[in-house]
Amino acid sequence: MVDLVLRAANLTKVYRGRRGHAPVDALSDVSLDLERGTTFGIVGESGCGKSTLARLLVGLEAPTSGTIRIDDQPVVISERSASRELARKIQLVFQDPFSSLDPRMTVGKALKEVLTVHSLHTDMTSLRASELLSMVGLTRRFAERYPHELSGGQAQRVAIARALAVEPEILVLDEPTSALDVSVRAEIINLLVRIQDELKLSYLFISHDLSMVRHISDDIAVMYLGRVVEMGRYDQVFVTPLHPYTSALEDAIPVPNPEHERSRQAAGAVAVHVQVDKVTRGCPYAPRCALVEPRCRDTAPTLTEKANGHMVSCLVALDDAQ
Ligand SMILES: Nc1ncnc2c1ncn2[C@@H]1O[C@H](COP(=O)(O)OP(=O)(O)OP(=O)(O)O)[C@@H](O)[C@H]1O
Ligand code: SF4
Ligand SMILES: [Mg+2]
Repeated sequence: MVDLVLRAANLTKVYRGRRGHAPVDALSDVSLDLERGTTFGIVGESGCGKSTLARLLVGLEAPTSGTIRIDDQPVVISERSASRELARKIQLVFQDPFSSLDPRMTVGKALKEVLTVHSLHTDMTSLRASELLSMVGLTRRFAERYPHELSGGQAQRVAIARALAVEPEILVLDEPTSALDVSVRAEIINLLVRIQDELKLSYLFISHDLSMVRHISDDIAVMYLGRVVEMGRYDQVFVTPLHPYTSALEDAIPVPNPEHERSRQAAGAVAVHVQVDKVTRGCPYAPRCALVEPRCRDTAPTLTEKANGHMVSCLVALDDAQ
């Protein structure tokens, strides 16, 4: 039987429009299951709702509707907060590591503060802080440093140590490497893979870059305009992508072959970042879709299983024989 650590069902988030603007449907009916000890990759372009989903899952914001269960317990969310005990089980690592670190607090003090707030290792917080630093590949001398004395990669290691301090079961990693130098990205990914293995953690790994999630994910959801448009095991989504948007994201992954790259650019495969106005009727992807048919302008597809848990939201893909 599948051991689910997290189950999110029909999550929707509507933000009130700013200064007289229309409300924003940041998330529409998003459901996903995270199996214990695995990585679920969430991919989609800027503004598709990835961080909104992350904030709902960790209880920073309440959904407009929908439910979240961790270890089969409902996460009770009032307008203000999630259940404290369950909230400890799921921690968020942000894109910008400095945003989660207090500039006036040394690394050691920041780690000890988390331990104290959660009444963990109360009689040996210094020792535990050193352990946490070692877990993320930093020596205990980093405990005396302030955030401005850290490089981006070191700061992200500290942010990960801080998230691990409360001994969570799940890490939500919201683009954890995209603000870092290319040279240190692989180091952080390798660190996350090692920690997951050592601590048997479950990850939700968010990225706008399909090439980033494909190496580390067991399952993947592709999001477009607040909706999941394709979902399945990583090999289903990569080997047999069903949604035209997933194919466009795959085509946009740079290939180390200049000739092939030139022909792809000529074919328009690289131009996936197109601004599209809100679509009120039919398929939201229709204005960009190379396979669009007249019926797509009237009928909105819903996420439906095509085969063996491989889900897609596309009228044409659902009609095609496998
Ligand atoms: N507090 C808010 N109030 C109003 N609209 C919001 C708020 N937060 C997010 N949005 C809107 O919700 C949509 C989804 O935003 P979100 O930050 O979740 O996207 P994202 O996929 O994380 O993008 P990025 O890749 O740029 O981080 C966007 O249209 C955004 O402008
Ligand atoms: S339903 Fe139509 S417009 Fe939407 S993704 Fe499928 S083919 Fe494209
Ligand atoms: Mg984001």
